[in-house]
Amino acid sequence: MPENDPPSSRNPTRQRRPLGNTPVGVITHAAGPVVEAHGLTGALLYHVAWVGRERLIGEIIRLSGEIATIQVYEDTSGVRVGDPVWDTGAPLWVELGPGLLGSIYDGVQRPLPALAEMDPAGVPRAPYVARGVSLPGLDRERKWRFEAALAPGDHVEPGSVLGTVAEGQFFVHRIMVPPTYPAGTLADLTSGEYNIRQVIGHLQPAGGGRLPLRLGQRWPVRQGRPFRHRLDPAVPLVTGQRIIDMLFPIARGGAAIIPGGFGTGKTVTEQALAKWADADVVVYIGCGERGNEMTEVLTEFPQLEDPKHGGPLMERTVLIANTSNMPVAAREASVYTGLTIAEYFRDQGCHVALMADSTSRWGEALREVSGRLEEMPGEEGYPAYLASRLAGFYERAGTVEVLGGQDRSGSVTLIGAVSPPGGDFSEPMTQSSLRLAGTFWALNVNLARRRHFPSIDWITSFTHYQLDGWFAANVDSSWPQLRAQAQKLLQEEHELEEIVQLVGSDALSERERALLVVGRLLREAFLQQSAFGGDAFCPPAKQHAMLHTLLHYHAALEAFVRAGQSLEISLQDSEDMRRRLGRLRELPDETLDADISAINADIDRWKPS
Ligand SMILES: Nc1ncnc2c1ncn2[C@@H]1O[C@H](COP(=O)(O)OP(=O)(O)OP(=O)(O)O)[C@@H](O)[C@H]1O
Ligand SMILES: [Mg+2]
Repeated sequence: MPENDPPSSRNPTRQRRPLGNTPVGVITHAAGPVVEAHGLTGALLYHVAWVGRERLIGEIIRLSGEIATIQVYEDTSGVRVGDPVWDTGAPLWVELGPGLLGSIYDGVQRPLPALAEMDPAGVPRAPYVARGVSLPGLDRERKWRFEAALAPGDHVEPGSVLGTVAEGQFFVHRIMVPPTYPAGTLADLTSGEYNIRQVIGHLQPAGGGRLPLRLGQRWPVRQGRPFRHRLDPAVPLVTGQRIIDMLFPIARGGAAIIPGGFGTGKTVTEQALAKWADADVVVYIGCGERGNEMTEVLTEFPQLEDPKHGGPLMERTVLIANTSNMPVAAREASVYTGLTIAEYFRDQGCHVALMADSTSRWGEALREVSGRLEEMPGEEGYPAYLASRLAGFYERAGTVEVLGGQDRSGSVTLIGAVSPPGGDFSEPMTQSSLRLAGTFWALNVNLARRRHFPSIDWITSFTHYQLDGWFAANVDSSWPQLRAQAQKLLQEEHELEEIVQLVGSDALSERERALLVVGRLLREAFLQQSAFGGDAFCPPAKQHAMLHTLLHYHAALEAFVRAGQSLEISLQDSEDMRRRLGRLRELPDETLDADISAINADIDRWKPS
């Protein structure tokens, strides 16, 4: 591992950051999370600096002549002008390797001694971690069983899979040649029990020399990990959420935003996706949310069962928690820490879903730091570079062919919640994110107020991903057609509702009134889906069957209208049928086909031929 490895960490106990031979500067100005220092000769932008006598961790974010401006990721109270500052000579890294899964970190990858440090009311004690201490991201002592997959003499490249470590009961962690290594020949590689820093073998570059191979590697968080090339996003991230998969699906490797006002269901949706989406690994960043909301995540996640295999969900999850009572600048770091961990799993060939709740708190951190830097403010006080920062984040989503020459692909799907003040989507964070995301799940305050959940607005939401082909090939060939029909019906219902509001329902034809009946059925029986209980995950085949049946009923009603039968009579005749349609979600998976066929047969028998 690189030199800058803090020598603090023989074991994961707290240790004070050591003094090195690195240049010492002096603080000349201290204001909240931002300090200025003189005398850090040779320091580079984005080097990590240790600030003050307690050696708080910070990052150099501006260099101007003699003055280095540092944003500090720990509480800076007590830091004074005249205090020392050290340049560590290295950027902010994360440690990557076995042991990541199941971890709970703060924004700079220090493991949070999570639950033990909650007070009796379940509120995390602040600060989580004492100031000025180094906690390694990965346990340095824990031994892992490494099984070599390659043999001496084999050709290897950056990203080549050397072998595997079983992590937890279900995850096979692939150990790769670091992306910074050259290609070469494997000199030696031995299966066995190793900790993340022990040497498992050596690589011989073509030009000579010997490079050590280990289970762990590091990567600077602000730099995307390299890959071979991007692939078109053509496969959905199946979520089991009907309104998402059926109407506004997201591609694996895509990016979605969930903007919504206070209490509209952003967190519940992010968590439902973390639990149910078809991802190998989930990275969940709780960014600047209230401490108690994050506590819910910290207490609930470890108890969640993984629907994939029945084990704990944490076995394929990394949590990053950065609550509103933690230092504001660390929110920025937490986003990049999470991204880098996600990319590391992508490089193993995994499909990773990264949830960030809420990106608005990160935006606020940018605004606060920018304010302290006295930069020229852009819209609503956000820095002018807000849009480019967000672009830098969302661009790290993607399905890629990974390094390693083994034709593997992996993906990082980004799902960012946005909390516009007052639920007003015209504000800069929502607008800038909107341009970057391929999917927009707009949460609607009125729907949430009526307890229509998920409160995703089917009129204003959209997706740019073309996934009909996948659903047609893998679920049912009529998927695209049903989807288009449902969208048209909901759109028309919306327009008719507006007319009804203006002039009453008398103005509507029988056909239009039939459409309103089915529109309502579609909303209540199909679009509504509780994140809690048996309906929380709906497999695509069931989504299709439900929608098909509801639209079949609509066709029957329309046939009666065309045949001249009064709608009222048709509705009376089919009251019981509508009740059954209203409860389609309850049909058990085991008998779904038979039950659905029975209802459709009843509709066929009833409708005019
Ligand atoms: N899919 C859902 N199924 C059932 N209930 C839901 C769903 N989504 C949201 N809710 C309800 O809405 C409440 C608020 O949701 P949530 O906490 O996710 O909102 P939020 O947008 O994250 O709020 P905040 O702005 O405070 O962060 C939940 O406690 C829950 O009762
Ligand atoms: Mg929330």
